[in-house]
Amino acid sequence: MNEKVHALLNQQINKEFYSAYLYLDFSNYFKAAGLDGFANWYLIQAQEERDHAMLFYTYLQNENMPVTLDAIAKPDKTFHGNMEVLQAGLEHEKYVTSLINDIYGAAYDVRDFRTMQFLDWFVKEQGEEETNANDLISKMELFGSDPKSLYMLNQELAGRIYSAPSLVL
Ligand code: FEO
Repeated sequence: MNEKVHALLNQQINKEFYSAYLYLDFSNYFKAAGLDGFANWYLIQAQEERDHAMLFYTYLQNENMPVTLDAIAKPDKTFHGNMEVLQAGLEHEKYVTSLINDIYGAAYDVRDFRTMQFLDWFVKEQGEEETNANDLISKMELFGSDPKSLYMLNQELAGRIYSAPSLVL
């Protein structure tokens, strides 16, 4: 495997675990705010990010490439209000999309078609992640300022259940 592609794939393990850590922090924020449904939504988001990390980890192992695990950065954002958390989530997903695109670009440059095929799932997944984050912001804009509506939105988010990723390696 090309050195740059390998380094970026290995780095993405860390980035995805950081995403899990970040969303765990979001979940913790909402738990403390008494919004259990939002806390549940981000807890499941964190589980999905761990799955993403494990997919990169497994892909490198399957390719007989070394895996190096680095320290996971501390989620250090402070929020003034629920909307800021949601917006930080969207910004983070856009950042992750840019990372996936960078790996894809590096794989494309060296005609690493297997890695490109592996990444196809993530390209689609990032589209969904950004849509979900956008939807959440839209709902919050519409309903967040009315306590009764916020209660119902919280109930809706409490219903999110975890499902394993559709990509199996
Ligand atoms: Fe693993 Fe939310 O991207």
